[in-house]
Amino acid sequence: MTPYGMASQSQVKSQQLWWQSGIIYQIYPRSFQDSNADGIGDLQGVINRLDYLKWLGIQAVWLSPIYPSPMADYGYDISDYQGIHPIFGSMDDFDQLLEEVHRRGMKLILDLVPNHTSDQHPWFLESKSSRDNPKRDWYIWKDALPDGSEPNNWLAMFGGTAWEWDETTQQYYYHAFLKEQPDLNWRNPEVREAMMNVMHYWLKKGIDGFRVDVMWHMVKDAHFRNNPINPDYQPHQATVDQLLAVYSTDQPEVHDIVRQMREVLDAYEERMMIGEIYLPVHKLVTYYGENGSGAHLPFNFQLLNLPWNATQLAAAISQYEGALPEYGWPNWVLGNHDQPRITSRVGLQQARVAALLLLTLRGTPTIYYGDEIGMQDVPIPFSEVQDPQGLNMPDKNLSRDPARTPMQWNASTYAGFSSEKPWLRLSSTYRRLNVESEKDNPFSMLTLYKRLIDLRQKELSFTAGDYIPVYSDQQILAYKRTHENAPAFLIVLNLTHRPAYFKPEHDAFKGTIVLSTLPEEEGQEVDSYFALSGDQGIIIRLH
Ligand code: NOJ
Repeated sequence: MTPYGMASQSQVKSQQLWWQSGIIYQIYPRSFQDSNADGIGDLQGVINRLDYLKWLGIQAVWLSPIYPSPMADYGYDISDYQGIHPIFGSMDDFDQLLEEVHRRGMKLILDLVPNHTSDQHPWFLESKSSRDNPKRDWYIWKDALPDGSEPNNWLAMFGGTAWEWDETTQQYYYHAFLKEQPDLNWRNPEVREAMMNVMHYWLKKGIDGFRVDVMWHMVKDAHFRNNPINPDYQPHQATVDQLLAVYSTDQPEVHDIVRQMREVLDAYEERMMIGEIYLPVHKLVTYYGENGSGAHLPFNFQLLNLPWNATQLAAAISQYEGALPEYGWPNWVLGNHDQPRITSRVGLQQARVAALLLLTLRGTPTIYYGDEIGMQDVPIPFSEVQDPQGLNMPDKNLSRDPARTPMQWNASTYAGFSSEKPWLRLSSTYRRLNVESEKDNPFSMLTLYKRLIDLRQKELSFTAGDYIPVYSDQQILAYKRTHENAPAFLIVLNLTHRPAYFKPEHDAFKGTIVLSTLPEEEGQEVDSYFALSGDQGIIIRLH
């Protein structure tokens, strides 16, 4: 018997699934590692860096799209769902990658983009060839209104109307993103079947799961009603935010499709599905599906949007915990390829506190490549902007390029990312902020991440324990992680730059600081009342 109960930590751990106990790492393949000197990352490059990810303690790698694509939206416009873009390598390279990932006991998750294809996909070329083509109904075609205008007021995410006029067949087609990304018509059973076949193709190859792009977009209102005006729109926001996407997204019928996708996954062993969903928590949790028949992990993006304020975060965490159905496993995200990096949102010092938060909350954390070394948004001169979102709305500073710059491996020319000029410029600070320089520095972001990951993966209270809110005020957020079979931890985070006092009411405890953003303070014994430095976060093992 262990000191904490009947089951040992390792026994309980073995009952958890890999996507519950492990950490997911997102790779933006263009920017991770180039192996063939074209300035663009590729699959062989990823293979070369797998040992780093293993060392870091990552369980699963999620690759943003690697399929053939005209790259209008950098791979999110797919022209062949069952191939590999030559820029990234070949199918042999992919098979080798999968094997190498598995050989290291890790898992591979692919991006699935079912909402839309490229306008160069053979399905769309057929669909637009004539009104009576058998694939016409695979996309969303509508007549003009009597005055020739668009069928309704829906707007595209990347600016302007969401309807594109086709001269040949004299109808509009719908595209939620670029006009080069026509939306598929998921009400058509043939479309469903075709995409389920795509899933089978990759699952049979042995991949471990999918991250499903814009899951909440897949079905649109059957009547294509106008979206209402957003009363809170601010001019700095993207033009799409002028309307509330009430009828163009999150339709009840989407859950049937998610369930169908889940059934495909369930036909294989231990596969999983992440849903990309930007919705309020009460809507988000419906994507777990009735009795858990939906996504395993509907991405929880709250930490991307919430003000960096302790009471607001405390409330949001508890709201999420409270809204989760009993079968819903939580998850947390600090960054991705569509958002400013965490260092650029809250600053370098607070990004260390954010790392503590991400890796001590209950649920699966997803780390965006480079966040673990404290990469910052890189200012990209306008003449070098690549992202269509930035190019189409030039006055709004919405380009996603700054968070997509090449990974900083070392201090050599081009940061060890490539031997040639990268497709997007490197951070000017890469010579001091890189994997090599940080690896053996006890005060670096990388060391902090590595130690947090080690602690998290070792302790059952973190991977499988409860979340217990303890205290929050204008500066401090504190919570416990406990498990009946393991030691308990108290996490205290100062979300401001000023020193703060931690004095929880009605609580008394004693413990040892086992990890701190200020490593000098580790090993100290603390009890109920203590002071923290500005930007300090600590993990206390309770006695
Ligand atoms: C969400 C992806 O994360 C983003 O990068 C892409 O532009 C859109 N979906 C369209 O696929």
